[in-house]
Amino acid sequence: TRIVVLVSGNGSNLQAVLDACDEGRLPAHVVAVVSNRSGAFALERAAAAGVPSVHVGKHADESRRDYDARLADVVAGFGPDLVVLAGWMRILTSDFLGWFPNRVINLHPARPGELPGVNAIERAWHEALAGERTATGVMVHLVPDEGVDDGPVLATADVPIRPDDTLDTLAERVHAVEHRLLVDTIATLCHHTSNTP
Ligand code: GRF
Repeated sequence: TRIVVLVSGNGSNLQAVLDACDEGRLPAHVVAVVSNRSGAFALERAAAAGVPSVHVGKHADESRRDYDARLADVVAGFGPDLVVLAGWMRILTSDFLGWFPNRVINLHPARPGELPGVNAIERAWHEALAGERTATGVMVHLVPDEGVDDGPVLATADVPIRPDDTLDTLAERVHAVEHRLLVDTIATLCHHTSNTP
């Protein structure tokens, strides 16, 4: 299975996927990493793993449609079976998604239907401080359209929030679950792909 990973930042989830491929836990390889931010640490992780990486930044005078079409062109050039949004911080339009039907998955650090958008871990932690929740979670879902952190759920896991959690200890626990869930979900998808005639 050929995977292209889209990133915007740190890339710890990218690293989890790279390591799993490297160690033979995933029957897949990351054929490219694409970032919309030039300074993303994820690009260094790609370089360290010997994986081609590309920065595709949106120009100020470029429309979303044009940017998404240009991005689709770059990604399609790598012939992916699967496109993984791992800390990708832009909403993709059908001008991108239409090229990869049923092949784009996203990772979100919250349970299905909860806390869409940025800073989901921080918002969950604040709600827990206010006594409004005792758990959050993680999900991996298909990206069929422009809905933010929404789409058919492929996998989800709960993450408890402890009374003595700081934002850092909670974030660390959520990220550890993300790394595992993302790799497990990709493994399942690889299995399906290899069984499809
Ligand atoms: C993760 O929490 C992911 O779910 C969210 O952004 C974060 C990216 O982390 N969308 P990293 O760049 O993979 O370290």
